[in-house]
Amino acid sequence: MPVTDPILVQRIPTAPWGDPKDRHVVTYDEYTNTGGYKALEKALDMEPGAVVDMVKESQLRGRGGAGFPCGLKWTFLPEPDGGRRYLAVNCDEAEPGTFKDRLLIDFDPHIVLEGIAITCYACRLDTAYFFIRGEYRHQAVVMQKAIDEAYANGIFGDKGLLNGRSDFKVECYLHRSAGAYICGEETGLLECIEGKRGWPRIKPPFPAVKGLFGRPTIVNNVETLAAVGPIVDKGVDWWTNMGCESAIGGPPSYGPKLMGVSGHVNKPGVYEVDLGIPLSTLVNEHCGGMRGGKKFKGAIAGGVSMGILGRDQFDAAMDFDIGKRYDVMGLGTACPTVFDEDTDMVAVARNIARFFKNESCGQCTPCREGAQWIYKLLCRIESGDATSKDLDLLLEIAGSMGIMPGTTICGLADGNNWAVRTIVNKYREEFEARLQRNTISLAVASA
Ligand SMILES: Cc1cc2nc3c(=O)[nH]c(=O)nc-3n(C[C@H](O)[C@H](O)[C@H](O)COP(=O)(O)O)c2cc1C
Ligand code: SF4
Repeated sequence: MPVTDPILVQRIPTAPWGDPKDRHVVTYDEYTNTGGYKALEKALDMEPGAVVDMVKESQLRGRGGAGFPCGLKWTFLPEPDGGRRYLAVNCDEAEPGTFKDRLLIDFDPHIVLEGIAITCYACRLDTAYFFIRGEYRHQAVVMQKAIDEAYANGIFGDKGLLNGRSDFKVECYLHRSAGAYICGEETGLLECIEGKRGWPRIKPPFPAVKGLFGRPTIVNNVETLAAVGPIVDKGVDWWTNMGCESAIGGPPSYGPKLMGVSGHVNKPGVYEVDLGIPLSTLVNEHCGGMRGGKKFKGAIAGGVSMGILGRDQFDAAMDFDIGKRYDVMGLGTACPTVFDEDTDMVAVARNIARFFKNESCGQCTPCREGAQWIYKLLCRIESGDATSKDLDLLLEIAGSMGIMPGTTICGLADGNNWAVRTIVNKYREEFEARLQRNTISLAVASA
């Protein structure tokens, strides 16, 4: 499959992101000189509802993890009542293995700001908060500079969008997270912007109805918003000609996608490819193959919370059906971490469990206690001290935590659940081998 012409990163050659010597942040002037902010102009000539319809028709699905249809989410907003309405831009990007939004900021911040301006116009949102991961210090500086440029050129501010071309006024603020994975969950993020501890809220009500400061709020991922301008500019057919239809009769996975590949490949990096690309093609044709010519053993589907694609799933199609077809939770951020044949999968599971136990916000007992318990059990298995009962217990605890089993407030616990269960299920022999060693050593000790 050929690499798609770079779309979201249209000014930067992808695969892998061009010659480092030529990489730079695209300024406002460079952006407008190459057609930037034309999509905003076009959107402002349309009725706001027509822009929403267009995005809905494109079937753009959220790039933040859940793949929820973007235009549909926008229609959940109530009618404006004269009070404030918000856009919260999710650039938390704290999922291990995920680093795609960062590169949009690093090189093309205005494509994101144009998407923000169009979304605010279409959904009648007067205030945008760009919520950025605490560790992204450099990116925060870059983004603030781009926001300042956008203000200086009348995109946002008092005159109305695009220097008064519309009388609809939008303010855009950068908000730096203090740095916690849970603040990427949309309601944890809202709490954090409100100056509180990042504790997810019970839903419903959903943010579209009652979000930031109790007002209607849309939460969208950076990459989702970066796609809005190109869709408005180039049209729905252009978008739906990329990506793929569902192989199982579900909703399609249209458009290109930024996929950040890490792990045991020769050329890790962010690649912009069509949704539906087989993982093996991504690795072999774009990432230069497996490092050292080793065999593929598995890959985290797209951020650690999605679970693992096993040895026989190297050809898995990277689209939004991946969860239903390959026994993982979903496509997530579409940023796979690839493992070669030498990888110790027990250590991988233990390492992931350590992350989740550190990042649980502690509100829900099954997540708070379960995450600690899972981690301790995995440490015990890894060190050869566990029995087969421990392995059963591990699966029982993991399988009972999360929104899907109905025991927690947010999806962080589901991530822990899927990561641990899929690794144990797909590499069970490695876990059992550690137990056997334990049984033998106990037998020797008692002899
Ligand atoms: C624990 C957790 C962490 C999350 N982290 C992020 C994140 O860093 N960035 C993001 O866009 N979405 C993240 N999400 C998903 C958001 O809750 C939300 O679905 C997303 O921002 C919506 O944007 P989209 O529809 O454009 O994808 C996270 C979800 C959970 C449960
Ligand atoms: S599931 Fe975990 S992270 Fe999410 S709200 Fe409950 S305790 Fe916090």
